Amino acid sequence: MLSESAKSEIREIIARYPQGRSALVPALHVAQREVGYLPPAALSDVAELFDMTAAEVKKIASFYTMLHLEPVGEYHLEVCTNVPCMLRGARTCATELKAKLGIDYGETTADGKFTLDHMECLGSCGTAPMFMATERATGKVRYFEELDAPTKIEQALDLIASGQGFETCERWPVGPYTHGGMEPRYLLANVDKPDSHTLAVYVAGGGYDAARTALTTKTPIEVLEEVKAANVRGRGGAGFPAGTKWSFLPKGVYPRYLVVNADESEPGTFKDRMIMEYDPHQLIEGIILASYAIESKLAFIYIRGEYYFAYTRLLAAIDEAKAQGFLGRGIFGTQNELNIIVHRGAGAYECGEETALLTSLEGGRGHPRLKPPFPAVEGVYRKPTIVNNVETISNVPHILRHGADWYKQFGTERSSGFRIFCLSGWVKRPGLYELPHGTTLHELIYTYGGGTPDDRPIKAVVPGGLSMKLLKGDQLDTPLDYESVQAAGSMLGSAGVIVIGEGQSLVEVASRTLSFYREESCGKCTPCREGTLWLEKILQRVEAGDGTVTDLDLARSITNFVAGGRSFCPFGDAAVWGLQSHLDTFRPEFEAYIQAKNPDSARPAMPLRPIYRPSKDRAELD
Ligand code: FES
Repeated sequence: MLSESAKSEIREIIARYPQGRSALVPALHVAQREVGYLPPAALSDVAELFDMTAAEVKKIASFYTMLHLEPVGEYHLEVCTNVPCMLRGARTCATELKAKLGIDYGETTADGKFTLDHMECLGSCGTAPMFMATERATGKVRYFEELDAPTKIEQALDLIASGQGFETCERWPVGPYTHGGMEPRYLLANVDKPDSHTLAVYVAGGGYDAARTALTTKTPIEVLEEVKAANVRGRGGAGFPAGTKWSFLPKGVYPRYLVVNADESEPGTFKDRMIMEYDPHQLIEGIILASYAIESKLAFIYIRGEYYFAYTRLLAAIDEAKAQGFLGRGIFGTQNELNIIVHRGAGAYECGEETALLTSLEGGRGHPRLKPPFPAVEGVYRKPTIVNNVETISNVPHILRHGADWYKQFGTERSSGFRIFCLSGWVKRPGLYELPHGTTLHELIYTYGGGTPDDRPIKAVVPGGLSMKLLKGDQLDTPLDYESVQAAGSMLGSAGVIVIGEGQSLVEVASRTLSFYREESCGKCTPCREGTLWLEKILQRVEAGDGTVTDLDLARSITNFVAGGRSFCPFGDAAVWGLQSHLDTFRPEFEAYIQAKNPDSARPAMPLRPIYRPSKDRAELD
């Protein structure tokens, strides 16, 4: 079924990896682009190239939401309905789309042109509401954002239908992501300049000087010690110090790999996307320095499949850097060698967890692995591997250029440096703000974000991505550093700050949150797989007006069987921490909602087991 040219493209991709199996998901992207979806014959052709069975390949393909085992329309539209988008009108946007196309979620228009679906967070929370469109014939993906008026939705649909919607894959409409922050800026210094993604602009601002100087005048251990001294903590969510992680590599064991986690999928987080789209050379310079420090000759960037535009920008930037002798053999005229493989995923939140990411990178379903051994000891291909987030690595050139002491003048003693805060939800100016750690929530939301759009008070804030516990509206004096947010009862996580205004329903927020985690559980362990499903059912029952107060106790007790180290990986905790804070801190709102909707505490007719119908249930609510 696959053409010879598709097969040779796949063989070429296989040859790039130390172990060919890693090319499986990229190969499925190629097959899907050629056929339109992945019927059994296409899976068989791919299986043959990998010396696998078609059943094995289907098992992998079925894990990833961007890979389709059934046909879809010429243009596949997926509207994000996750919490930050929901708070800014995603449901209205989805209703408009359904009305204009005359179809519901999971359906295709009669002419076969459009398929519509709902989607989880697409890293666009600051420019919500939005949808992602995929062109079947080319496999290109484009984001359509800030769709806050019916006319904009109509224009977007017209542009796609005209066949010209994918001439570029830059987000539509193009507007600024940033609205200020500290001055001067470092991580976001370039992003608003024209052609900021090019080598010329990056070099004109002193780009690659830090890498050149380090590789020609410092030893790897000196680079590592500088990063360790700066105490730059992981920006992906865990906050573990990068330099310390690097020093865990077992001595004398090679090859070693650097894997950049660019799977940014935590709802409320959209900073890595900006760096990759508008300043990819900053990340590449960071990769050169980190690889030198850990003595790696091959780095991977694992980027989520939906970030297609960022993916193309990275590929172009790597080509430019290679042509200048900054990558490949003998970089900067030294004996050092470094190559970068950009590995595109295919849609799975769980792949943001570092061991699941590695399993996915090796060509499997994105399932986590037991730790220990930690990746630093046994990572990709069972070799020592450092996994760091995009923003973490992008800090490294600045630390090497100015020194650890300079870096530590920003922030607090234990949370050093500056941070890209992602502000979303019910605020006037959502977007990215680069500010020192220790900036208060109030300053971020009011001084930079302009407060709430209609000046209503703030009811609650999620300070570190949707997984984190809610803080109350009277805790806005909390400084945004690891220790202070923890002392306030939550965690800084990925610095995705989601604002919820008075009058916005926490019942809806909790229900939508659990739908997300049920949808994204990888299914490996029982507490997480079953627990999120039952919690979703209970919360949907409450939201639909059929809940009773005892449901709140039941939900709270189920969370205790999912969190607290009872699931295989941190996903279980992430799935229910938020809900625990909803029920512990905001229970009166839930009780009032139940009392208003179901004053007699009538029980609905319930099946003995929940019926698993995610699209249908979601469609009813959205
Ligand atoms: Fe919709 Fe993040 S893009 S919630």
